[in-house]
Amino acid sequence: TPRIFSGIQPSGNLTLGNYLGALKRFAQKQDEGIETIYCLVDMHAITVWQDPEALRRQTREAAAAFIASGVDPKRSILFNQSQVGAHAELAWLFNCTARLGWMNRMTQFKDKAGKNAEKASLGLYAYPALMAADILLYHATMVPVGEDQKQHVELTRDIANKFNHDFGVDFFPEPEPLIEGAATRVMSLRDGSKKMSKSDPSDASRINLTDDADTIAKKFRKARTDAEPLPETVEGLSERPEARNLVNIYAALADMTAAQVVAEFAGKGFGDFKPALADLAVEKLAPISTEMKRLMDDVTEIDRILGHGAEQADAIARPIVEKTYDIMGMVRSR
Ligand code: TYM
Repeated sequence: TPRIFSGIQPSGNLTLGNYLGALKRFAQKQDEGIETIYCLVDMHAITVWQDPEALRRQTREAAAAFIASGVDPKRSILFNQSQVGAHAELAWLFNCTARLGWMNRMTQFKDKAGKNAEKASLGLYAYPALMAADILLYHATMVPVGEDQKQHVELTRDIANKFNHDFGVDFFPEPEPLIEGAATRVMSLRDGSKKMSKSDPSDASRINLTDDADTIAKKFRKARTDAEPLPETVEGLSERPEARNLVNIYAALADMTAAQVVAEFAGKGFGDFKPALADLAVEKLAPISTEMKRLMDDVTEIDRILGHGAEQADAIARPIVEKTYDIMGMVRSR
């Protein structure tokens, strides 16, 4: 049976990249009637330093962002990772399945650890095994993510496969990454070769889900572009990463294809396109930030939702991790 699992790190302001690459699609999958499990991966967030008060606030704010984006806690399971201990348990078992050589190929570790990898936490290195545990703990079959997480989902398939092979079982399914739509990789507004990221030091490089209308308009107005008008076809965007990025953002926000957007704006300059994009973004994002603010007024309600979601998640995860121990030969006698 199809089951979706995906997660977001509560490690700072969520961005338009998180919204288009993940949150918006999470709500769509739920509305298609597939079983959906969504997780605020606080244990992933702490692989780099997090101030405790900030982590608490960001976790609740990310939960508010899910709900404001249309994830309905009555129809999806929504919880924070650390409240379900089975994630850490299965991650340890997978640490013993995954090979060092596999981890050494992970590009996100290289990006995040930077030049001085000796100073990175051991958790940052082991992070992809925890992510595999997140997914396989629910026997999830589909993982909606942005382009940047593809390698980690492929590693998850390798771990599932090796575990099944090592123990001669057919226990873990090999999940598929779902990387769909016009905005699977939203780029920085300041540099068309860098991904839009909550950790970019430049706030002008990204749209935050909490930005107000004026800030959104200003950031799009100042977004880096070339001076050419928009082309007649998408092929005309191939050597124009900044222009392509803005077209993709417009397409994803409007539920159009990039080809349709280009057809509508062919021959127009950015003086016309950027204000149209800003208006569209404000129209789509303002209700989300308003709803997030309202939800954040009463965090007891958010905490109640996360607690209930954790109980539902635990009910699925506990038997699966117990079975995994059993397969591996650990005595279960309580
Ligand atoms: P994270 O927190 O970096 O990002 C959350 C989701 O947002 C997507 N995303 C983007 N999509 C398009 N354009 C962008 N600029 C952009 N930036 C981020 C990400 O691809 C992701 O889907 N390791 C994961 C979290 C995780 C997870 C999991 C995901 C932990 N366990 C299990 C799926 C399944 C991460 O760091 O995502």
